[in-house]
Parts: sequence; structure tokens; C-alpha cells
Amino acid sequence: MKHVSTINGQNRTFFTNKDDFHATIPLVLLHGFCEDASLWEPVLPLLSDGPVLRIDLPGFGGSDLPPAPGMEVYADAVCAILHELGITRCVLAGHSMGGYVALAFARAYPERLAGYTLVHSHPYPDTPERIENRRRGIEMLQAGKKDLYVAQLFPGLFAPAFAQTRPEVVDALVQTGQTQPTEGIIAALQGMIDRQNHLDTLRDSTCPVQFILGELDAIVPLEDALAAATIPSTVDIRVLSGVGHMGIWEAPQHTASALRDFWKFCAQQPVPEHSNKTQTAA
Ligand code: MLT
Repeated sequence: MKHVSTINGQNRTFFTNKDDFHATIPLVLLHGFCEDASLWEPVLPLLSDGPVLRIDLPGFGGSDLPPAPGMEVYADAVCAILHELGITRCVLAGHSMGGYVALAFARAYPERLAGYTLVHSHPYPDTPERIENRRRGIEMLQAGKKDLYVAQLFPGLFAPAFAQTRPEVVDALVQTGQTQPTEGIIAALQGMIDRQNHLDTLRDSTCPVQFILGELDAIVPLEDALAAATIPSTVDIRVLSGVGHMGIWEAPQHTASALRDFWKFCAQQPVPEHSNKTQTAA
């Protein structure tokens, strides 16, 4: 079910598969860069037994632009939607840039998390080379070349064998990317340039953390992500073999079962003391 809510004067779009999100630990799904909530469609059938909320981050899908660039701004928007739905705790899963948002959320609102999953994502800030690439992207977008920018973005996100055998999947994601507003894409690029190092967030997280990684991911090098995955005190690590940056489309069954197992595990854990306090106050 699609919802459009005006929250703090901004339209926010999100999708639910159940009517009631009270008294449960929903799974909340955040898409990545140049994507929207439709990213998650291949894994939804395997996640249908519990409440799932998919959010269009500000500036993507049907959601208005963010008031300012920043992963923290997206995290605040996610929190406002959870509040609107009466969700006090959830398991948050973010794909790539959505994982950067999940980390910003974990830093700002730890009491609202029963766990979080980084799907092809990591806690490191941008390298100077990546910042330079993103700045070139912003120039291209400001020059009115959105379609070209998006068309060259997606093919390299998939493992080469998948991109060759399933070009229609790559094309579909390019087409969705090209519908996203230029200002939203620019805000996301600026927000990723500005984002902070979240190694401390992983270290400080008292809830379980999951990493779902692609063996052939060209954006998130496996070795770096595995190094970060040693940091949380409770961690689940899944490496999808032969998969690039887009396991949700490249290996939906494995991705969905990893998400589901972790979500169920987190939902069974006792509620920590600080979360009880938040639930009473909310
Ligand atoms: C994404 O898929 O969200 C992006 O590749 C993340 C990034 O560029 O760092």
C-alpha cells in the first residue's frame, strides 16, 4: 500500500504491506543512490510474513526534496515517518547510500533500533578520488545531462556476467533512475561527499548489525567491508558469491533470506533498558 504523508510541511512517500505497525518490530527498507522504494521489489515476496515499510528518501520517488543535503537529514526524515506510524523500534536495512543513512540513524536514534543491516554498504567516508568523481557528477547534472549521468551509473554496479545475461534489469534500474529529480540526485551526491566516518557508530552499537556483501562489488571492496564487520559486538556477515553491488536484483532469494533471518533474530532479543524509556516517552 502506498502512502503520501505531509510531515513537517514536506510530502513523504512510503509503502507498507500491513495495516498495523504498532506492537511489532517492522523491517524498514531504505534504497540507495538514484533509486527509490521500488528497488526492494524482488525481495518482498520472501519478506511478506511480517510488517515491512519501504521509504522513498527525500528527493527520490514521490518524496519532496530534503531541506538540506546530508545523511543526517535523511535519517531525521526516516525517524519522522516512524513516529508518524507509531513505530518505536525497528530493524533498519539500507542499500549502499541507504546504509550510510542507517548508520546516521544508528548514531542519532540508537534506542529506536533492534538491529540494522548494511546491504552493500560500509562506514567509511569518501576518498578524495570519490569526492572528485561526485563533484564531476554534480557538474554534469547541473549542465542538464541527467539521463547520460544515470545511464553510465548503473551497468558497473552489477557483476559483469549478470549485466550481460540480464540487460533488461540494468535498463529498468536506469529508467527508474532517470525519473528521479536532478535536485534530489545532486543533494544525495553532496550529502555523500559530506558524510562522516561511522566506525565509531559500529563500535558503539549495542544492537546486532548485519553486513550483506557482494563478492564482486566494485563500489564496496569486500576486504574493507569485512574489516569494518569485525567491529560491532554482535554481527552477522553474509557474502554473496558471484554478486556485485545489487544483490537485491542479482540474488534476491539469498538476500531476502539473509534479511529475514537477521530481522527475526533481532525481534527475539530482549528490549534494552534505554529502548524501554523511549517507548514510554513516545
Ligand atoms: C549507492 O548505490 O547508493 C551508491 O553507489 C553509493 C555510493 O556511491 O557511495
